[in-house]
Amino acid sequence: MSGVNEIRSTFLDYFAAADHAVVPSSSLVPKNDPTLMFTNAGMVQFKNVFTGVEKRPYQRATTAQKCVRAGGKHNDLDNVGYTARHHTFFEMLGNFSFGDYFKPRAIELAWNLITKEFGLKPDRLLVTVYADDDEAAGLWKKIAGFSDDKIIRIGTSDNFWQMGDTGPCGPCSEIFIDQGPALQGGPPGSPDEDGDRFLEFWNLVFMQYEQVEPGNRLALPRPSIDTGMGLERMAAILQGVHSNYETDLFRALIDAVAHAVSRAPEPATLASYRVIADHLRASSFLVADGVLPSNEGRGYVLRRIMRRAMRHAELIGSREPMMYRLVPVLVREMGQAYPELMRAESLISETLRLEETRFRRTLERGLAILDAESRDLQAGGQLSGETAFTLYDTYGFPLDLTQDALKARGIGVDTEAFTAAMQRQKQAAREAWKGSGEAATETVWFSVRDRVGATEFLGYETEGAEGIVVALLREGAEVEALNAGESGLMLVNQTPFYAESGGQVGDTGLVVGPGLTARVTGTEKKLGDLFVHHVAVEAGTLARDSAVELKVDHARRRAIRANHSATHLLHEALRQVLGDHVAQKGSLVAPERLRFDISHPKPIEAAELQRVEDIANAVLLQNEPVVTKLMAVDDAIASGARALFGEKYGDEVRVVSMGKPVDEAGALGATGALAEGGRLPNFSIELCGGTHAARTGDIGLITIVGESAVGAGVRRIEAMTADAARRYRAEEGRALAALAGQLKAPVAEAPDRLAALIEDRRRLERELADARKKLAMGGGAAGGGDEAREVAGVKLMARVVEGVEMRDLKSLADEGKTRLGSGIVAIVGVAADGKAGLVVGVTEDLTGRYDAVGLVRAGAGHLGGKGGGGRRDMAQAGGPNGAGAQAALDAIAEALAQAEAA
Ligand code: ALA
Repeated sequence: MSGVNEIRSTFLDYFAAADHAVVPSSSLVPKNDPTLMFTNAGMVQFKNVFTGVEKRPYQRATTAQKCVRAGGKHNDLDNVGYTARHHTFFEMLGNFSFGDYFKPRAIELAWNLITKEFGLKPDRLLVTVYADDDEAAGLWKKIAGFSDDKIIRIGTSDNFWQMGDTGPCGPCSEIFIDQGPALQGGPPGSPDEDGDRFLEFWNLVFMQYEQVEPGNRLALPRPSIDTGMGLERMAAILQGVHSNYETDLFRALIDAVAHAVSRAPEPATLASYRVIADHLRASSFLVADGVLPSNEGRGYVLRRIMRRAMRHAELIGSREPMMYRLVPVLVREMGQAYPELMRAESLISETLRLEETRFRRTLERGLAILDAESRDLQAGGQLSGETAFTLYDTYGFPLDLTQDALKARGIGVDTEAFTAAMQRQKQAAREAWKGSGEAATETVWFSVRDRVGATEFLGYETEGAEGIVVALLREGAEVEALNAGESGLMLVNQTPFYAESGGQVGDTGLVVGPGLTARVTGTEKKLGDLFVHHVAVEAGTLARDSAVELKVDHARRRAIRANHSATHLLHEALRQVLGDHVAQKGSLVAPERLRFDISHPKPIEAAELQRVEDIANAVLLQNEPVVTKLMAVDDAIASGARALFGEKYGDEVRVVSMGKPVDEAGALGATGALAEGGRLPNFSIELCGGTHAARTGDIGLITIVGESAVGAGVRRIEAMTADAARRYRAEEGRALAALAGQLKAPVAEAPDRLAALIEDRRRLERELADARKKLAMGGGAAGGGDEAREVAGVKLMARVVEGVEMRDLKSLADEGKTRLGSGIVAIVGVAADGKAGLVVGVTEDLTGRYDAVGLVRAGAGHLGGKGGGGRRDMAQAGGPNGAGAQAALDAIAEALAQAEAA
């Protein structure tokens, strides 16, 4: 019963049998506590349950919790490898009571577990209690039968447990085992308590208070219990070894290291093996929980842990990246208990391999510099801060790695000078930034950025988290608070809100706190890494330094994610259908729709669009996971990832891949042959910082709703996905059905039926026009009884016609000329709106004597028109005044008479 996996399950089963809910470990990145860098104890996920803010469906719980203590209040990084029991990553087994049982039951449960289930000998055990906790002391006496000398009272913070500077806390009682006089060390509270002989393995915390802020402690609504047993320590005890690193789990990892470097550990190199084994666990679990190496915040702590291990790999003779080769062993040992490790296995391997590959490129050169610069130093000496900074800045050596490398020789680092060099560099970067036009307008962000640092973005992993308000701005100036009814800008130390970038719109949502409700109406980025939330406070006060809960509008974000992934699929589908010249020219990823601009010299034909849509939807239906990796930019490009031309990328980039390759018809390609055939492993691989669907199936449906030109050689595709797409198409369907109903035809026949109706209508219009013309010329019209009369010896046909289209007047005039044989035709057409058109025609034989243009001009004035124009045989004019039609004709007759007389 003493393997690590068995001990874990024995513990959980024991408490389950005592009516405790078995609750899964929470993430290493605390979602509910902005003050913590990493989850560092089992109680972290229950913090708000203790204080009564959060309700759960149980009052007792038990967990095996992943913990990291590196960076922040509990930081063990520097000791790891050199002691028997320090770890960056460890598992804490715990049982919890939320206002249910208290001290008596907690002590009884603990005592029975360790003595009955785990079979520890009572005479080897002893406990500490907080100095004035008589109750706990009495209970130990009664339950364990301990004499007073086995109940040690301690009045220091050692027996008062606090998660961080704030949060639930209380006095505690720690259980120790005496490992016998063969080991160095004294009992707790004695001067040599730090030795290995007396080993603390379980801490029972009697949660009674909440530390609201330094100096302000409130009583919890109901006293509660929080306990933490170090699984690694218990395993060492039960396996009869004196170091956690000699337990079954660590032996398996250390063997794997030995195998990878083909060298067994020796006393002088053992620490390196331990460092690698420990750091492998921390790195792998952090990556599985969404942390990726970077130069800020959590990502930087991860990088430091990784690089420290990689440097130790180098020390024991590894010349190639090796950490990633250990991942399968870790997954074998721990994947059963932590399935997230199995799910993330390839991401972990890949991340380790790339980090080690990159680090190795500079490691040797950096080590050579370190060697040269420290050669003349003696024990007690200091490496210059400048050198440490160069190693940091140019060779990627975190400061603690440099310190670690010199530790064995007793040499330190001038950290003050290191910090000064770092400051100088930041200042220079700031000056350079100030010079750029974009930034100059908003100088306030520089001082904010200086004070609060980059915002940590949590939104790839979560849509809700707590953050601390680090800055508030109103009308361009910093303020201490925003009150109800006020709007402004808010910065928090960490946020799940995506800030507008890469075409993806910023998130919206809520900020809540005690009595506080504020709406986030948008999020944008300043100076590259400040996430600025536009907020409108609706109730209460949003105050600087307060902790607030940040909730992204989930439905909106989900729609955005679907649209962003759809953009990638359309991009690749467009390239496959239209050709390799297709490059992204811009995009907009909003919740309702997406827009994607590409370089393409001509309109995209309907059939092409259909193929694009078919291919994109075929990949969607594969329902493959959308995979994100962090890679060195060169490696990413080499792997075939599409990047935006002309875009500036940092040296590390996120690479988003999705789908299996398909052929042009949208069918799955022959997957087996792909790798060998030189084709890429994924349908789409792009550099992208956006948020994406978890699987392509989550996009639901992709439908292209528009194609247009936006500039020379640039086409714009508009599309919709998921619900919006479905609604859009459904609405179209309804309109179509209504249309078909009107046409009294099935939908499929509606287009033909409509075409026939349109054709019919054209024909009828033509017939109507002809009929009207005939009617107009058929005598008896307003122009006067006779076909024509004689004016000054010339035949004049003068008419007013109605219901004839203006454009038909000329053909009427032509017809009139034919009928006359020789003569002059003047026709005024009066339209329904009262406007008039005038046409005058002169037969060929008379054009020498009469000019149609002159005659038209004579009449046009009466129609309220000006001028008129045409040729000698046919001229026209028009005007707004149809009532003057007869007067116009009379004026033309008059002009004719006068022309003759002249
Ligand atoms: N929260 C307590 C600890 O971490 C149990 O020791």
